[in-house]
Amino acid sequence: MRMTPHGGGELVDLRCTDTERPALLERARGLKRLTLDARELSDLELLAVGGLSPLRGFMTEGECKTVVDDMHLPGGVPWTLPVTVSVERELADSLAEGEELALATEAGEVVGLLEVQDRYTSDRREEARKVYKTDDKAHPGVAALYGAREVRLGGPLRVISLPPGEFPKYHLEPRQTRAEFERRGWETVVAFQTRNPIHRAHEYLTKCALEITDGLLIHPLVGETKSDDIPADVRMRCYEALIDAYYPKARVVLSVLPAAMRYAGPREAIFHAIMRRNYGCSHFIVGRDHAGVGDYYGTYDAQKIFDEFDPAKLGIVPLKFEHSFFCKKSGGMATSKTTNSALEDRVFLSGTKVREMLQRGELPPEEFTRAEVAKILIEAMDH
Ligand code: ADX
Repeated sequence: MRMTPHGGGELVDLRCTDTERPALLERARGLKRLTLDARELSDLELLAVGGLSPLRGFMTEGECKTVVDDMHLPGGVPWTLPVTVSVERELADSLAEGEELALATEAGEVVGLLEVQDRYTSDRREEARKVYKTDDKAHPGVAALYGAREVRLGGPLRVISLPPGEFPKYHLEPRQTRAEFERRGWETVVAFQTRNPIHRAHEYLTKCALEITDGLLIHPLVGETKSDDIPADVRMRCYEALIDAYYPKARVVLSVLPAAMRYAGPREAIFHAIMRRNYGCSHFIVGRDHAGVGDYYGTYDAQKIFDEFDPAKLGIVPLKFEHSFFCKKSGGMATSKTTNSALEDRVFLSGTKVREMLQRGELPPEEFTRAEVAKILIEAMDH
């Protein structure tokens, strides 16, 4: 089964060819310039390589509005989070409709050209309430929304070059993960999104999923995360050690997702699933409080939201898992679906708990985290 990209069309590729590049760079020299922040640059990369297919640029007001209000693009394709770029009012006012704008990295490298079709502002509070289910500034996604520049620009994008990604060995774009799955002869592939080291609960979910699929894509998000999340380079070492020690290597691909974390809970679960469809996956793991932060979302809200979409339009199957724990009675990982143990026999674990233990200098127990992973985390804390 070849997974079609989201929206049913071709995988989007917004990059120019090597032959086109010099002329585009020359054109960029005469244009006004916008320096992208880390989130916008992440989105630009994902747009460029088709991770956000069928999007071909930053959202216009109309697109953004239907996404925020109805969780679909104007043509009826499911889409739950705005993908936007914003500028200061002064720059926005100076742009004519259809004018091209050069987009650059903080280091000054021009990465693309945006054809400005639309300039708009949004009611941020209302958007926060709809997208994040809260307008609390303490929510990291809401804080980023409130902190963005004043005016959004919408329009198609031409990508001239992408800065070299982190973790080059694992930086596969959708075309490459698709080719790898095909090379391995996998018909069904389950994706696992994570922003944490893989602890025992995570391992359990991925292994349950591996029982019913041909292969597993461990797909950690390595774009911007909140400051108390474990840095991506430390996590990558944990994933390598864990796969090496405990996974059947022929059935696992490790690759990174260069997206920024929004912490939008249920809406982000759909967004995460859509991106993994574009990377060629047929199934997607959604566990407890997926992409959540604090107490803003119910434990299983990120699973329930899948019921609001036409499965055919979503085109990727969610594998929903209950809160899993180490069961002392049965001596292994379990959920309330698979064991009859009493509450006191259940060791509940979470990335947050592990982080807190590490911060106190405590070694997380085997029921939480494999020793190989705990060792890397402790060493990282010492530095
Ligand atoms: S997330 O922001 O990427 O969702 P995290 O890396 O902690 O955070 O979670 C990765 C995936 O594992 C998510 O689908 C999440 O719901 C799931 N998950 C994390 N911990 C548990 C647990 N104890 N039981 C069940 N699912 C879990």
